[in-house]
Amino acid sequence: MRRGRFIVLEGGEGTGKSTLLPRLAARLRSRGVAVVETREPGGTSVGEGVRVLLRDELDPWAETFLFLAARAQLTAEVIRPALAQGVWVICDRFAASTLAYQGYGRGLDLQALRLLNGVATGNLEPDLTILLDIDPVEGLRRKGAQPGDVRTGTEALAFHERVRKGYRELCAASPDRWVLVDAAQPLEAVESAAWDAVAALLL
Ligand code: TMP
Repeated sequence: MRRGRFIVLEGGEGTGKSTLLPRLAARLRSRGVAVVETREPGGTSVGEGVRVLLRDELDPWAETFLFLAARAQLTAEVIRPALAQGVWVICDRFAASTLAYQGYGRGLDLQALRLLNGVATGNLEPDLTILLDIDPVEGLRRKGAQPGDVRTGTEALAFHERVRKGYRELCAASPDRWVLVDAAQPLEAVESAAWDAVAALLL
């Protein structure tokens, strides 16, 4: 049996990943492809527990290990078994989120993060990563952040700018496995560009 394909949606805040994901899954299903939709951190009971723990103000490495724990569980419990059965998986965030947020955003060592991602996932790499790219000012506005909100202050904005830069660097470094989609476009245009990349995997 042919292994399923592993597709990941990445991007900063308010890029519309969670709106796009079920639409791509529906298009694949309409072509007869079995698809599992999942998300990080989450997708397993361990992951949902990690989401609760992440509400605390955490040391950056403590936060990293929680994301990694959720990722290890999701990979073992959901992603690998599905792929092995020929089912495709679309995941809202994966290892690149840790590189972008904890690495580029918080300044943790990228080499160490890459190593830990590899350990947590058994070096599982997505077949395709779709980067939904948007100016963080617009992304945070879409997410409903209020003026004066800590998440939109100058410091928070600088953090999200670093995350965006990180994602763009990761995308540019792997043009054969990543595609950048301008998430400021209307949803139909975003969906169409993302679908072009997904449909190429059907060939
Ligand atoms: P989301 O469900 O809205 O995508 O939120 C998840 C948040 O967690 C988002 O702010 C990004 C962050 N995150 C990291 O900082 N590192 C990670 O490895 C992952 C998966 C998410």
